Amino acid sequence: MKFAVLGSGQVGRSIGAGLVRHGHEVLMGSRDPNAEHVVAWVAEVGTGARALPYGEAASECEIACLATTWSGTENALHLAGAANLVGKIVIDVTNPFGRGPSGVTLVTGHDDSAGEQVQRWLPDSRVVKTWNTVNNQHMIDPKIPGGPGDMFLCGNNAAAKQTVSDLVRECGWPPLDVGGIEAARMLESLALLWVTYAISQQSSDHAFKLLRRQPPPAG
Ligand SMILES: NC(=O)c1ccc[n+]([C@@H]2O[C@H](COP(=O)([O-])OP(=O)(O)OC[C@H]3O[C@@H](n4cnc5c(N)ncnc54)[C@H](OP(=O)(O)O)[C@@H]3O)[C@@H](O)[C@H]2O)c1
Repeated sequence: MKFAVLGSGQVGRSIGAGLVRHGHEVLMGSRDPNAEHVVAWVAEVGTGARALPYGEAASECEIACLATTWSGTENALHLAGAANLVGKIVIDVTNPFGRGPSGVTLVTGHDDSAGEQVQRWLPDSRVVKTWNTVNNQHMIDPKIPGGPGDMFLCGNNAAAKQTVSDLVRECGWPPLDVGGIEAARMLESLALLWVTYAISQQSSDHAFKLLRRQPPPAG
């Protein structure tokens, strides 16, 4: 599969490298594909990785993965071009974090979410939110003690969620579909809980698991 990873930060570089390890082709979309850290990433990851401006990466890919700072996301999608993403799955990994008087907070509040906003910016794309509730180092091939936990995902399109569930499973996580894109409100709140625990424990090696009754085996 040919992926565009939009944003060359920690998340974009981790997911991009992981997808290449799994045999996929990755186009790293960036405002500056010639930036030193992007060139170094392409050299390190090797065959299967290229860097392009956002628009070219979005146009060439089959699936896009949005890995931008929340405050830069609207601009990144403007540069990527909604027309280049029509009909495509867009995996949204963003968290709409800001700083309030009591520390890290959600800037979207609790009656909206980054996932829903991304779907509004890309009305003709199939947005699936996932991977936002763990540290980037564990998004693909997690190594969490006692883990891996569950990888929550949500979105409005059932076929898109099935494709992303298969991808998440391939990358080492049991996928757990929690509903339509409005469930991103919960997943982004969960990410805030993840950060709160990370700060208090000075650790990034944790994830969430939903304990539940397992369905009886088929047959
Ligand atoms: N860090 C984690 O482990 C983690 C875990 C879960 C979720 N997340 C979420 O994933 C997203 C990415 O996290 P990160 O740690 O990779 O962030 P980051 O290191 O700050 O990088 C994000 C990237 O966003 C792009 N960007 C920033 N401002 C932009 C603008 N004005 N216009 C266009 N593009 C812009 C930049 O890419 P270019 O310079 O290449 O254009 C930048 O490298 C965030 O929303 C974060 O909350 C992070």
